[in-house]
Amino acid sequence: MKLLIIGPAGSGKGTQAKKIAEKYNLAHISTGDIFRENIKNNTQLGKIASKLINDGKLVPDEITNKMVEERIKKDDCKNGYILDGFPRNIIQAKYLSKIDDVDSAIELKVSNKETVKRLSSRRTCSNCKRGYNIISLKPKIEGVCDDCSGTLIQRADDKPVAIKKRLEIYTNETKPIIEFYKQKNLLKEISGEQEINVVFEEITLFLDTL
Ligand code: AP5
Ligand code: MG
Repeated sequence: MKLLIIGPAGSGKGTQAKKIAEKYNLAHISTGDIFRENIKNNTQLGKIASKLINDGKLVPDEITNKMVEERIKKDDCKNGYILDGFPRNIIQAKYLSKIDDVDSAIELKVSNKETVKRLSSRRTCSNCKRGYNIISLKPKIEGVCDDCSGTLIQRADDKPVAIKKRLEIYTNETKPIIEFYKQKNLLKEISGEQEINVVFEEITLFLDTL
């Protein structure tokens, strides 16, 4: 199964993609996570991406497209994958359609008010990257990861100015890809403004019909 998950910043793409990947044995490919890993390791790509990401802007298409093309060729994608955060504009969507065929594009619909609330309360483990939320998904011990005891941190782009920019880019550049997939009969809309497990159940009910 080859899937995409589309939605604004904070809609729950990462949260749901992780659960989907586990249940259906798919590779979870988050372009944001790949960029953050490169920033952490101070690679050439990380140096290019760092300022853009912290300002809430997109990394150039040529770089992102090639990166995804290489990633989906890897062995762990043989059983399928879920792309989280890619494509993010029409150029990327067209590029993807030239290199592979996806089975479905899941759109998580969430209001801006809710995403802003979620992003300001999000925390991520600095070590294993597990995601938490100090309102809706608390760790057992404040500031500490349940799985690996790593320190929980806030993402550098979860500041109000960068959040505003990310949501603006979503409206102007990413939303047109929803129509692109609708026209190909591949779009599945899901309300992301329900409890995490309820969203997941709706997604799995749909995926089980594919
Ligand atoms: P990326 O990392 O993809 O960030 P994003 O799209 O802004 O989305 P987020 O990761 O912030 O949110 P999410 O939808 O994954 O929500 P989450 O599950 O964490 O991209 C970052 C940057 O990288 C981009 O801005 C860009 O610069 C660059 N980039 C990435 N891809 C690119 C591309 N293709 N082209 C160019 N540049 C690219 O959930 C959020 C919080 O809410 C968590 O705390 C979670 O616990 C909580 N939560 C989740 N679901 C629920 C729920 N149902 N109810 C209550 N709380 C919930
Ligand atoms: Mg994410």
